Amino acid sequence: MKKKIISTGDGSPSLYIEELNETYHSKHGALTESSYVYIKKGLAHWLDQNNKKELKVFELGMGTGLNAYLSYVFSVNQKISCEYLSIEKYPLSLKEIRSLKMKESLPAREHYHFFDQLHEMEWNQMFSQSDFFFKKVKKDFFSIGLDDSYDVLFYDAFGYHAQSNMWQENALQICHEILKPGGVWVSYCAKGDVRRRLEKIGFSVERLEGPPGKREMLRAIKGG
Ligand SMILES: C[S@@+](CC[C@H](N)C(=O)[O-])C[C@H]1O[C@@H](n2cnc3c(N)ncnc32)[C@H](O)[C@@H]1O
Repeated sequence: MKKKIISTGDGSPSLYIEELNETYHSKHGALTESSYVYIKKGLAHWLDQNNKKELKVFELGMGTGLNAYLSYVFSVNQKISCEYLSIEKYPLSLKEIRSLKMKESLPAREHYHFFDQLHEMEWNQMFSQSDFFFKKVKKDFFSIGLDDSYDVLFYDAFGYHAQSNMWQENALQICHEILKPGGVWVSYCAKGDVRRRLEKIGFSVERLEGPPGKREMLRAIKGG
């Protein structure tokens, strides 16, 4: 699909897909959205609630690698050990990643090598740096077949209007299956139908204040 580079509200870049009329991140700020939704309301929240220094994170949709990079920086700063699995059905090429120039907007210049590494490494291989264990898998979310060993799940699918199948009960049920009891599902999405589906499956759902430009977002905790 044809993609166009855009500049978002905080100056960081993102991609726009004409066919889907959809962007990879919020137009109001890609970096701001990822830092707020996935790091602050996901990872930092988990750390706050759990007296542990080791966790497993699953990401739906590696895309530009922004969430993965920010998670690495967070883990190093917090001195935690993190196993991070990111899956991607439609990988961006190295050429697309380089022309996006995402790295130039990222914090923590001393860790830029990790951003390069995560894109340059082979698929299905584990790469570790400090106590961060990163693996990317080129696969469709609907065929992942994982067990319930994840503490935090970043649900970063394209929006409902562009990819409604990712927000139906069967997709959300897979999320429930791969999280540990007490595990945290987090997404920029705030749609009422999605919230009700999550609740029906057995999640406790919180409506949180959204990142700039979005009124709300969802965080769901697996009961049990
Ligand atoms: C909103 S973008 C994610 C942005 C990404 N997290 C980032 O930080 O750049 C959605 C991503 O999900 C991927 N995706 C869409 N459907 C998928 C599926 N069924 N399985 C795996 N990945 C999928 C897309 O290719 C895209 O990269």
